[in-house]
Amino acid sequence: MAPRPARRRVAVIGTGAIVSGSHLPALRAHADRVELVAAVDVDLSRLDAFADLAGGEVAGFTGTSAMLDAVRPDLVLIGTPPALHREQTVAALKAGAWVLCEKPLCLSLAEYDDIAAAEQASGAYASVVFQHRYGSGAVHARELIASGELGAPLVAHCQTTWHRDAAYYAVPWRGRWSTEGGGPTMGHGIHQYDLLLHLLGPWAEVRAMAARLVHDTESEDVSTALVRFENGALATVVNSVLSPDEVSRVRIDCADATVELTHLYGHRNDDWSYTPARHVAPERAAAWSTPADDVPSSHTAQLGALLDAYDAGVRPPGSGPEARATLEFAAALYKAAFTGQPVHAGEIAPGDPFYPAMHGDHPDWAPKERA
Ligand SMILES: NC(=O)c1ccc[n+]([C@@H]2O[C@H](COP(=O)([O-])OP(=O)(O)OC[C@H]3O[C@@H](n4cnc5c(N)ncnc54)[C@H](O)[C@@H]3O)[C@@H](O)[C@H]2O)c1
Repeated sequence: MAPRPARRRVAVIGTGAIVSGSHLPALRAHADRVELVAAVDVDLSRLDAFADLAGGEVAGFTGTSAMLDAVRPDLVLIGTPPALHREQTVAALKAGAWVLCEKPLCLSLAEYDDIAAAEQASGAYASVVFQHRYGSGAVHARELIASGELGAPLVAHCQTTWHRDAAYYAVPWRGRWSTEGGGPTMGHGIHQYDLLLHLLGPWAEVRAMAARLVHDTESEDVSTALVRFENGALATVVNSVLSPDEVSRVRIDCADATVELTHLYGHRNDDWSYTPARHVAPERAAAWSTPADDVPSSHTAQLGALLDAYDAGVRPPGSGPEARATLEFAAALYKAAFTGQPVHAGEIAPGDPFYPAMHGDHPDWAPKERA
């Protein structure tokens, strides 16, 4: 038997809601593979509260560079506000650490390309947290679609209809282009359309609208898109924080079955359904049901997949071109909404105003407001 790899030394940057509530339980679930050795936060009261919560010997730091120099961690988990992600990810990569960074990985394609350059220079990898890819229901659906078992994908709906109030947007980094990168397109719906892209493969063309209907934000509070995929399938995408009846949904009609996921902030096997077309034999459809082993979508499942890649020394899932494709979709949705023109995959390159900033880096630009 191969010797068990050493426990990986992990540091967290940012000790707020997502790191305390989701990354810490994930680290605990993988306690035989990881050891939390350090935490960074500029807010000392949060740092202290996190150290109490984590227990054990967690060294506290108020700066990322000081932590990286002193600790030299194997893996860094980042859960700070989005405008800090690029800089902290690049710093960790330069120090030789792998990174698992909260979504959005960064604020623009230009920032992503900085991260890609740092990956290449260091040999380490940066993944973005999209935990919904990693539940057993999503893994199974992807295998069924990719194998052709459900027939050709034809029509899809991707819906993130959530509700956020004024208190939510009172947090200074939210709803601003320079600090969050956008509204529900970047912050909320990104989970669902990342899963849609994961299930359907590369997108080819996007048309979109965005508006700011309720909140006192810089960025949109709702966006909608029409998407054509490389495989010919058409999809609608809705990203809203204005919807009292909250739901997250991905539905894909293939030639032989409709696969549908309905959940809110996380899914289990029971949240997936397969409805066969009338011509499909019952015994064939019976084989589609999700496997008995129920792995909920979670940071724990994604961290496990990343540690498997670390042990194997291979690029982790959710990094590189996969991470870039989802960010490029966000940029394309914004460009299409702001220009009123269709946007094609690959067109947002250096020199395009939507390459360095999701809103086209135009100070006067705002999505069309309610008349
Ligand atoms: N994957 C998910 O489902 C999910 C859910 C919620 C939030 N998020 C993402 O997680 C990130 C953080 O969100 P949150 O709700 O935890 O925010 P939060 O405000 O609760 O936590 C952010 C923490 O970062 C700290 N911080 C700020 N500047 C820092 C710096 N320079 N160095 C170190 N620490 C610093 C803050 O003091 C705070 O403790 C965001 O990118 C958000 O989009 C992801």
